[in-house]
Amino acid sequence: MRIAATVAEMRAVRRDMTGDVGFVPTLGALHEGHLSLVRAAREQNQHTVASIFVNPTQFGDPDDFASYPRDPERDLALLRDEGVDIVFLPESAEIYPADASTFVEVEHITDTLEGEHRPGHFRGVATVVTKLFQIVRPQRAYFGRKDAQQLAVIRRLVRDLHFDIEIVAVPTVREPDGLAMSSRNALLSVSDRQAALVLSRALRRAEELFAAGERDGETLRSAMRGIIAAEPQAQVDYVSVADTETLRELARVEHAALASLAVRIGGVRLIDNVELKSE
Ligand code: PAF
Repeated sequence: MRIAATVAEMRAVRRDMTGDVGFVPTLGALHEGHLSLVRAAREQNQHTVASIFVNPTQFGDPDDFASYPRDPERDLALLRDEGVDIVFLPESAEIYPADASTFVEVEHITDTLEGEHRPGHFRGVATVVTKLFQIVRPQRAYFGRKDAQQLAVIRRLVRDLHFDIEIVAVPTVREPDGLAMSSRNALLSVSDRQAALVLSRALRRAEELFAAGERDGETLRSAMRGIIAAEPQAQVDYVSVADTETLRELARVEHAALASLAVRIGGVRLIDNVELKSE
């Protein structure tokens, strides 16, 4: 496995690659969810490139950026074991020159949910993903469904900017007790880890109600809120039952909806979602 630390190095290695390249961009602190993206990329391409870059522009809160878990040595060992060919591991100044003044903004679908609660977050994501796509020039790029709005934003970005890249969505990987895998789980205390199960419990309740025929958006949202309210360590940022395309809240679910939530548990902000879909 080769490690490219600069844009020039990454470009040089890329030039020598023939055949399809699958790309897995990450913030590091890798877990099984990331490894499932790598496995999908390896299955579908001749070469697999991963990046590890804790992108400063997508963190509104400097404390959140500072406390984001980092363990590049462990990450590199995991990627090597998975058979990744190249890891792009740049410093911040490599990606953002001191006088960088170009940013990418995806409008409308970033107004709700994560976009509403984390102003500037998707501008940072869209900007860094655009840069990484330009540098790595993959045929396919892999993103987890756990970040459902990010996936929608990147699909829109690729369409609007005419990137010739297939975006592959990979299902959320969960712990056996239902907690969605996230790098932020490493920041949870033992009791917070237990309390964090409230996210998947609330989503499961929405799924049960939907399967039983409930189609009223507010009833589904309020059932999820009720479950979270019963967990004293949990503080809701949002609970949503939204259109899968526009991400606008639905009064009534016709065929499908994205049920999603963001909840703070002991200072750690977690997100999760499920798609509600009639058979
Ligand atoms: O989902 C992530 O890990 C990040 O938002 C991404 C796509 C690597 C951009 O920094």
